[in-house]
Amino acid sequence: MRVALVTFESFYDHSLALDYLVGYASERREATGPAEFGVFVHREKDDTKRVTQQVLEWGPDVVGFSTCVWNIAESVRAAKAVKDTAHDTVTVFGGMEASFRPRALLEDCAELDFVVVGEGEVPFVDLLGRLNRGEAFQTAVAGLAWRNATGAVISGGFGQALTYMDNLPSPFQAPGFAERGLSRVLYESYRGCAFRCDFCLYSREYAPMRCFSLDRVRDDLAAIARSGATHVRFVDATFNLDADRAKKILRWMAGCEANVCVEVVAELFDEEMISLLPSAGVRHVDIGLQSTQRNVLEAINRTWHRGDQFRKNLDLLRREPALTLNVELIAGLPEDTPAGLRRSLDEAVLMLPDHVSVYRLLGLKGTRLARRADELGLRFDPDPPYELIGSASFSPEDLDRVNDLTFAHLVLFNSGVGRYALRHLLSACDLGPSAIYDDFVAVSVERGTYSREEIRWLGRHHACGNRFESPTLPGLELPRVRAAIVDYLANAGLPGLLGEHRRIATDLADFGYRLAELDSAREHIGKAAGAGQSELRVAPWCQRASYPPSVLAELVRQGHDLGELAPEEVAGVVFFYHPELGPAALAIDDATASLLDQEAIGAGDEQPPVLDVLRGLAILVPKEALISG
Ligand SMILES: C[S@@+](CC[C@H](N)C(=O)[O-])C[C@H]1O[C@@H](n2cnc3c(N)ncnc32)[C@H](O)[C@@H]1O
Ligand code: SF4
Repeated sequence: MRVALVTFESFYDHSLALDYLVGYASERREATGPAEFGVFVHREKDDTKRVTQQVLEWGPDVVGFSTCVWNIAESVRAAKAVKDTAHDTVTVFGGMEASFRPRALLEDCAELDFVVVGEGEVPFVDLLGRLNRGEAFQTAVAGLAWRNATGAVISGGFGQALTYMDNLPSPFQAPGFAERGLSRVLYESYRGCAFRCDFCLYSREYAPMRCFSLDRVRDDLAAIARSGATHVRFVDATFNLDADRAKKILRWMAGCEANVCVEVVAELFDEEMISLLPSAGVRHVDIGLQSTQRNVLEAINRTWHRGDQFRKNLDLLRREPALTLNVELIAGLPEDTPAGLRRSLDEAVLMLPDHVSVYRLLGLKGTRLARRADELGLRFDPDPPYELIGSASFSPEDLDRVNDLTFAHLVLFNSGVGRYALRHLLSACDLGPSAIYDDFVAVSVERGTYSREEIRWLGRHHACGNRFESPTLPGLELPRVRAAIVDYLANAGLPGLLGEHRRIATDLADFGYRLAELDSAREHIGKAAGAGQSELRVAPWCQRASYPPSVLAELVRQGHDLGELAPEEVAGVVFFYHPELGPAALAIDDATASLLDQEAIGAGDEQPPVLDVLRGLAILVPKEALISG
């Protein structure tokens, strides 16, 4: 029997779920019977026709789809296309999205034959065995759902979950893993979650939290490191849940060259664990906050949140410049109000992470929140991803206004361009971020720098910014963002925004723009530096600007370490890309400025082509000339 396993991924090169299914089933031939597996990972935007053709050319008897809220629509389309062309092929859905609505999927999609319900490995082996043996499906089977001859759906409920995680063969230690040449790898060191937040699918009711053994994790991570993967994302609910375990893992990862991303609960950090993150390759840290409002936290079963500890640890994390910190909020939570959300956003922004993401609440199937939606007065879009469309405290108009707010927040904070100017406005005008965001939206619409439609559309993209890996959204290109901010600063009617403050804020927007621009070039810089051009490691790209002492003083007030010079001794600021710290700025005196002028390499010199791309923002500087050494 030939079994094709298919999924649609947005960013990662492989599917952890499908690798696990294949590994687990391959070791249980006595249960599955003869089976050959093919894994097909497609991009979400891939053309369904082409995907189906590719899968069917392989000649499968069974086609299984790993589904989640983001790819269920594509999966349904592809399953229909498979059945249309190859009627006898058995189609199967599994994964988090299918598991919680097997009945609806089987009723709505005649082209779907089976749903694997709950954790997939054990029931999938069972299903393949039954198909291979040609068994009739009559009485309910745990972990499987199907339609009987009369069209009625038979479901045996959640299947058996693994008890001992190490029974899952490691895809990373399997022969040929390195040869697959995966650059973006998902990694799971445990399943489930110790907490029970009402909105979240990690707190699974059908299985407790289970960990891979530490030995297994160490060997997996070593294999991933040897494979040369450039990005590793831990999909653990909370990477730092168990401090001892997390520290061991981080120590094993010391010297890791990949860019590592983790989800954490900030309160669970200690100083030692934070200090281990950068050398383990951790670059992106997603930090769940959801809300700062006590009544909201109670309503979602997150009473364990400790505001003081959160802030304290965020401050410690901010001292590690290699880390990009993304604090996550949710808009539309039960008991929250537009005013409560604004308070949460203001507090989160004032903690000064690199990004604050504001997700719209999703009524994910399988969560307590989705089950209690009526009782809580939450109205969700019936189609995936089940966005909140209204509630007792958020009218549809309120939700539109949330999009306005997140748009301004993306431009003035997450993009990186406006954040220094924003901080200046906050103190000069004595306002909170959300009040400035309102003004920014009003002025942008009035001046026509962004249309209302564009604002609402961009505001729906809750998680983006200069330091996210995702591509820039049309409308948020850095030059456009800078132009909009500069125009706003010239026309804003904020109380207390006098001429001098406007000038300082405008220069600060330039400062933010230069750092954000360097940040957006980091992939090119990393590639060039990694391509054996060793001088590039010690000679990062530089560009220069000069700012009046008032601007330098404001940057110092905001906590920037620009070097040793007093504002009046500064001839300019050098922007450069530091291999470990990322984009950095350093104040230089007259003597250093003239040294840089002499040593700057002209456009005509022989240089690698990537430098041509970057020439606009780069001067190649010899090591000796850099004050940072
Ligand atoms: C895997 S969760 C966990 C992070 C971490 N364990 C915590 O609790 O803070 C990742 C993020 O997804 C977002 N998220 C999860 N479920 C959501 C839902 N139903 N609607 C909107 N956002 C959600 C939350 O903001 C959450 O911080
Ligand atoms: S939000 Fe975080 S802590 Fe809460 S259940 Fe989900 S993963 Fe666990």
